Amino acid sequence: MRNFKLGTIIMACLFTAGLLLAPSMTPSASAYDEVATKALYDDKCAKCHGLTGKGDGKKGKTLKKKPRDYTDKAKMAEFTDQELIDQTKEGKKPMPSYGSGKNQLSDEQITDLITYIRTFAK
Ligand code: HEC
Repeated sequence: MRNFKLGTIIMACLFTAGLLLAPSMTPSASAYDEVATKALYDDKCAKCHGLTGKGDGKKGKTLKKKPRDYTDKAKMAEFTDQELIDQTKEGKKPMPSYGSGKNQLSDEQITDLITYIRTFAK
């Protein structure tokens, strides 16, 4: 009886540990494609944010409100991915909104673009 209880407890522990670890090990629904995302960024975002994320794109330089420097690690650490995703969707003047309208991108594309932007500060 004692052994049975101990076994049950050990099984319960292993089960719980499995539950906790599983989400971090499951690959995300779709793999992030850096090559495709870079192409999308270069096409849609680089004119303002710059090819290396410094905010020095051709158009970015002409704006009254300059895009942020995405190579600034400390500054970027202040934002969560979700905040950056939401701002990209909503737009932030003079940046257009990418969540709807003529510039609309899919949620997946926007999430990937934020993943890509994060690589500038690494
Ligand atoms: C017309 C120029 C322009 C384009 C094109 C543009 N942005 Fe922006 N973006 C800006 C400016 C300017 C800001 C900063 C606004 C501020 O500081 O309040 C900004 C802000 C952001 C922010 C919010 C974080 C921050 O720095 O305040 C994110 C995230 C972002 N842009 C991502 C993107 C992505 C992804 C694309 C391409 C799909 C894109 N931007 C295209 C000009 C642009």
